[in-house]
Formats: sequence, C-alpha cells, structure tokens
Amino acid sequence: MNMEPKYEEPWHDALNSRSYWYHTMKFPDGEVVNGSWTIDDFLQYIGGYDLKGKTVLDVGTASGYLAFNAEKAGATVTGLDAASTHEFRHVPFADSLSYNNIGQYREIWTRENLIPIKNSWWHAWHKYNSQAKCVYAPIPELYEWPEKSFDVVMAGAIVEHLSEPVFAIGAWARLAREAVLIPFTDVIPVDDLMMRPITPLNDSRINYVWWHISRGLYNKIFSNLGFDVYYTTAYAQHNDADSGSEVATRPSIIAIRRGTEAARAFVPPVALVAQAPEPPVPERRRKRGLLARLSPRRVK
Ligand SMILES: C[S@@+](CC[C@H](N)C(=O)[O-])C[C@H]1O[C@@H](n2cnc3c(N)ncnc32)[C@H](O)[C@@H]1O
Repeated sequence: MNMEPKYEEPWHDALNSRSYWYHTMKFPDGEVVNGSWTIDDFLQYIGGYDLKGKTVLDVGTASGYLAFNAEKAGATVTGLDAASTHEFRHVPFADSLSYNNIGQYREIWTRENLIPIKNSWWHAWHKYNSQAKCVYAPIPELYEWPEKSFDVVMAGAIVEHLSEPVFAIGAWARLAREAVLIPFTDVIPVDDLMMRPITPLNDSRINYVWWHISRGLYNKIFSNLGFDVYYTTAYAQHNDADSGSEVATRPSIIAIRRGTEAARAFVPPVALVAQAPEPPVPERRRKRGLLARLSPRRVK
C-alpha cells in the first residue's frame, strides 16, 4: 500500500532563528547571505535540464538553492531532507564521536547542523514568498510513496554522503516519471561496475563521505530501471576552503526514462566524463576541501 509524503507545516519562526547557510542565496529584496557553496549558474549545475512546467523533488535540499531556482524556472517543487540525524550514517572509526557516543553525536548534529540548515530553507522560503513544499523523510520511506510521483527528481551532491547509494538511487528513479538528475557528483570514469571509498579511510575526521561510483555502475543501475544516462560538467564555488574560495568541477548525471516524451525531446550534452582521464585528487587538497565542507557547521 502506498503512503503519501507527509509535508512539513511552514516554519513561521525561521526569519528570527539561527540558520546555517549551505548555499549562498540572493533574495528578491536585495539581501545576500553567504553560504559554504556558491552556485552561479543553476541551469548548468543541473545539466541544462528544462524544468518548466515540471513537478520536481529536490532531495538533500539543504538551504534550497536548487529548490527555489527550480521554482523560478517554472517547476512545482518539493524539497526533501533528512527527518533526523538517524539518517546520517558515518564511516566507523574507533575515535569518532558517531562511533563511540552516537547519542552525543546526534544531539550535536541536530543542534548545530540539521535544525539550522532546515531553518535556512524556511528562511529562504519566506524571502522568496515560495509555494514550494517540504518533506523530511528517511530515504527508505520514498519506496512507499506512489510510483512516478514527480516528473523530475534532483539529488545534488548527496550520493557521496550515503552509505547505501545504490538503494537511494533506486528510490529516486522509482519516483521520477521522466528524469533523475544527480548534479555535482564525482563519477569514476570507467565502465567496470564499481564503488570505492572516497578517501583512503585513514583520517577519522573525514567520516561523512562514503563511495564514489563508476560510470559503468551508474549506467547499469539506471539501465536496469529503464533509464539512459548522460553526463555533463558542473561548477560550484567552495567558500570554506582553507585557502579561501576555490571553484570545484564535478560531473552532473542526467538519467532519462526510456519511452517518455522527455527521452524523445532530450538533446544529449557532450559526454565529458566519458572522455576525461581519471583525475587522482591530491590527498592534501581533497582533505582540506572535505574537512572544511563537512566538519560540524559554523552557525551564522
Ligand atoms: C552536500 S548537501 C547538497 C545540497 C544540494 N543538494 C546541492 O546540490 O547543493 C547534502 C544535503 O543532503 C542532506 N542529506 C544527507 N544525508 C541525507 C539523507 N540520508 N537523507 C536525506 N537528506 C540527506 C543534507 O542534510 C544536506 O542538506
């Protein structure tokens, strides 16, 4: 039996409460808030996919840059984020708080990260006078929602944070009538079916990221679910890097359901990932970026 998404009642205190801004946002009244990441070009970030007139689920919505820009692009939007810190799985290390004191870890992450990031979304919702809905639900619950509930499911920069990304991709595909977009997500550019740890697993401070998935595995998972996959390139500016701001480049994945009008109309982008050599990321640079981005959040 299907279960409908349980939409969140608007957070009316959001404008007066503490926010953590994951995204830099520029509001219609001229106010600009600086976040950890600045995305200058929404359309490029999502692989150029036309959202006009579409219903869109934005998974891992954070401060809502993708959600509110999708709305601006003419979509009817639902943002989705974790219901609770139970859903944030960390790589186990003996000296990690999330390993040896899960209760304390959850208390800190709820207070310092999850509530302030949700508050930033609702703050932006008020500022944009948005009609977007929001739902806080664990990913397994998405399998219980009616199939093909949305035209497009977007899930930007979240695959890396999931211990079970293949299971999550299945949930997103099931909900997507025509396309799943996975913007700004590294892909191992090989055709083998593989997933490998993002880090060498020797630094317990970097326990928030799990797997890179190969192009072959993305293609296979999506093919099994009836989708064809295309790759393009996205850019975003990381504002928390040790050396100041730096621009990061990652693939965006566009999976289109076969046999749909969207598949017939879709003009594939140049498959940059297919041609790119596998880039070994220098260890120091990678650590700095991930640490700055994923360490417990500064609250503004
Ligand atoms: C790195 S941010 C990405 C923000 C945005 N999608 C983008 O592309 O810029 C990851 C977001 O995913 C959310 N998230 C992480 N794990 C999650 C989970 N298991 N279920 C739902 N949301 C999750 C985080 O709370 C955060 O809002």
